Amino acid sequence: MKPEHFESIAIREQMERTAYREHSTPLFLTSSFTFPSPELMADTFQGEGDGLIYSRYNNPNTDEFINKVCLLEGVEDGFATASGMSAVFASIAPFVSQGDHILASRALFGSTLQILGQILSKWGVTFTLTDPANPKDWEEKVQPNTRMFLLESPSNPGLALVDLTAAGDFCRKNNILFNIDNCFATPYLQNPAKFGADLIVHSATKWMDGQGRVLGGIVVGNTELIEKVRFFCRHTGPAMPPFNAWILSKSLETLAVRMDRHCQNAHQIAQFLLERSEINQVIYPFLPSHPQYELAKKQMKWGGGIVSFEVKGGLKAAMTLLSELKFCSLSSNLGDTRTILTHPASTTHSRLSTEEKKAVGITDELIRISVGLEHIDDIKGDLVQAMEKL
Ligand SMILES: Cc1ncc(COP(=O)(O)O)c(C=O)c1O
Repeated sequence: MKPEHFESIAIREQMERTAYREHSTPLFLTSSFTFPSPELMADTFQGEGDGLIYSRYNNPNTDEFINKVCLLEGVEDGFATASGMSAVFASIAPFVSQGDHILASRALFGSTLQILGQILSKWGVTFTLTDPANPKDWEEKVQPNTRMFLLESPSNPGLALVDLTAAGDFCRKNNILFNIDNCFATPYLQNPAKFGADLIVHSATKWMDGQGRVLGGIVVGNTELIEKVRFFCRHTGPAMPPFNAWILSKSLETLAVRMDRHCQNAHQIAQFLLERSEINQVIYPFLPSHPQYELAKKQMKWGGGIVSFEVKGGLKAAMTLLSELKFCSLSSNLGDTRTILTHPASTTHSRLSTEEKKAVGITDELIRISVGLEHIDDIKGDLVQAMEKL
């Protein structure tokens, strides 16, 4: 019997047992594989069979991780990469050439914007930023040479949502690829393939790992598109190390239970911050005050583990609050068991211009919390004592 439910697939999808009949997946820490004959080796190099060749191409641990994510996202194929950014790049580069255009949400992760603005632009690929919440703006900005619509939902750190049904319709109508970074939602909260996404990207470093240990990324989609990603990655070399794949595949076993608790804690923190006089604005997709609350309820299972908020008193107040934390961590990562606070304007998004930051709501007083799995009263207690210093 094949498992049908998310939790069971995440646990039971596993590579074939070896001759030792181990229960938990072993680690294949090897850079290459051997062949019983030169003929079989030659055939495998010609792409016959699914033989293992070299860990830059594939490895049992990365294959297990990929198979699991494909099942959880409801897609055919994937390629795992060394980091989320190499996955983002590998989801774009094979599909564009000089003279092509990319339509991209304004609310993208800072490094993704750098790829568009500082790398692909040098190679003759242009891009236009659009309002993720306004399909009319997409229609106005799409061009005859647009090849791809690049999105994040919810976005980092403004938690802006894209209407995925509208995005799917828009991409089909204009015959362009629908490429979404699904890192903040994870496959547990949202499956973009159901809305017609062609390429789905994850930074596995975040919620998929869940304990801040390893870097990783993955691109998934249909066989034809992933074949192009695989060709690009095999020859440019951003493969995920087997050790990271081993960690990440095991982490996925607990993704559902972790995300349930992360979302529950984040929702409570969002409601708690709403009540505080030191705070100006709280952004969380499952708060009725979020401008896309109805959409969030429609396309996400829960609201996610990130809350963003603005402190009254500008940059000085934001910095004071962060420097007074005793228990929560000050770090740029997210999706950890440990609660992490970040100041996007001076760190992850510091390379954006003032106008670019303003357009996506990254103000000097904006703080992002990745709500962890500690006891909710301890997280609140630390925030209270820090807010009392303002
Ligand atoms: C939405 C999003 N995409 C991609 C990345 C990049 O991932 P990585 O740090 O694994 O390269 C991040 C990192 O924070 C992110 O938040």
